[in-house]
Amino acid sequence: MITGDTFNEQTIIVTGTAQGIGKACAELFTDSGATVIGADIRDQSETVSACSAYSGTFQPVTTDITEQSDVDAVVERAKEEGGIDVVVNVAGVVTRSSIEAYADADWDNSLAINLTGPFRLIRAAVSELKATNGTVVNISSIYGHIGRDDRSSYASSKAGLDGLTRALAAELGPDGVRVNSVSPGFIETPMTEPYMDDDSVIADFLEQTPLRRLGKPSDVASVVGFLASDASAYVTGETILVDGGRAKSE
Ligand SMILES: NC(=O)c1ccc[n+]([C@@H]2O[C@H](COP(=O)([O-])OP(=O)(O)OC[C@H]3O[C@@H](n4cnc5c(N)ncnc54)[C@H](O)[C@@H]3O)[C@@H](O)[C@H]2O)c1
Repeated sequence: MITGDTFNEQTIIVTGTAQGIGKACAELFTDSGATVIGADIRDQSETVSACSAYSGTFQPVTTDITEQSDVDAVVERAKEEGGIDVVVNVAGVVTRSSIEAYADADWDNSLAINLTGPFRLIRAAVSELKATNGTVVNISSIYGHIGRDDRSSYASSKAGLDGLTRALAAELGPDGVRVNSVSPGFIETPMTEPYMDDDSVIADFLEQTPLRRLGKPSDVASVVGFLASDASAYVTGETILVDGGRAKSE
């Protein structure tokens, strides 16, 4: 169970913290005593304000996860706090197109943010993670597990992220570093806002989802918290679906 001091004295890098799932993760960790270095390309003032209510501290760092120099700056900022205990890769984008119309630039951007960004951040932080016996949590997607039309780059990047998770769990386990991922289904965030006004899309999702509701950012953050904490000390290379049961039902 995550309590008010579960992450006391810990330094946690979270990407994508300006809104949505990343913001919920930042709130959970600061509510449990952590210093969170929040890396996002957007303005993070809402997250700064939300986290100010908690015992931990939130430090925003303007970051484009596709730029190695920005990634290095985030890691340096975290090192100034004394080390890195947890890295959570949340930043992501979804691009939709049929295969015929898919532009190279959209494909490349999707992989750069959703897959190469996490790879580079973990690579930059790995010596610190080995020193703390730290953990990594990557945010994947249900579409890394099941097929969906018009999402080929998104699905490929997320399946790749799950592959990265398993490979690094095997590589870093002997050093005491755990690497896991969380695969959300439909979560109400700015990313899914465009669908919220389409009653038929929402009705379809609810019909296909055994728990009969959409997910909340906090539904994902609480599983991230579990995987980042000692409560999951013997779990690595795992992907946990947070999708109301959708991927495992007909
Ligand atoms: N919302 C869902 O239904 C859902 C479902 C499955 C997976 N996910 C995954 O969860 C993660 C968070 O999704 P969300 O719904 O909170 O999305 P969101 O769009 O609300 O937030 C994504 C955040 O990532 C940031 N970001 C984008 N590109 C960046 C870059 N180059 N560098 C740094 N930051 C960047 C954005 O500024 C934004 O704050 C994503 O990886 C997404 O693929 C979301």
